Amino acid sequence: MKHLFIEGKPENDVTLLLLHGTGGNEEDLLPLANMIAKDASVLSVRGNVLENGMPRFFRRLAEGIFDEEDLLFRTDELNQFIDESAKKYSFNCEKVVAIGYSNGANIAASLLYHKEKSLSGAVLFHAMVPRRGVELPDLTNTPVFIGAGKRDPLIPADQTKELVNDLSRAHAKVTEHWGEGGHQLTREEVDKAQEWFQQVY
Ligand code: MLT
Repeated sequence: MKHLFIEGKPENDVTLLLLHGTGGNEEDLLPLANMIAKDASVLSVRGNVLENGMPRFFRRLAEGIFDEEDLLFRTDELNQFIDESAKKYSFNCEKVVAIGYSNGANIAASLLYHKEKSLSGAVLFHAMVPRRGVELPDLTNTPVFIGAGKRDPLIPADQTKELVNDLSRAHAKVTEHWGEGGHQLTREEVDKAQEWFQQVY
């Protein structure tokens, strides 16, 4: 997968997995990584799927309606890519914390839903429920920060609550932040994610 790897300070053993939104690329979330955990290593990946020329992490049939088969295939592909990258760049694959926005947050959520121990934590900015009717792996000791917008036209509040409930039932330690805005990422939620990161790691 097209990606960037930036080695962090030796005293910080976390690697941030950056996952952009639809139409983005591996450069987009670098400033966020710097704001949230500036000493951590960074593996920033570009989605392998193109929708009208816009990179994404999996196919969708319509806005918010996912191609389930492709979602599972791409989740597996990303999970393998993390493992291969950990060997190539010598980072600890048990200390990978995803930071995803929108479509990137959705594939990060899909890793949590489907791949046991793939992530040691996640920051999900404006994520949807990736899949329904599945039993999640045990997420004990997995902290998850969820940033949501009260007026997000793509993600009704009930869907964010469903995501929180699914993760909490699997024993993840979920922290919610509800901003006043819509689907866009705000400075406020990035600051909250930074505070959360400092407390948790
Ligand atoms: C998705 O397809 O993952 C969601 O609709 C978010 C988006 O990319 O707009």
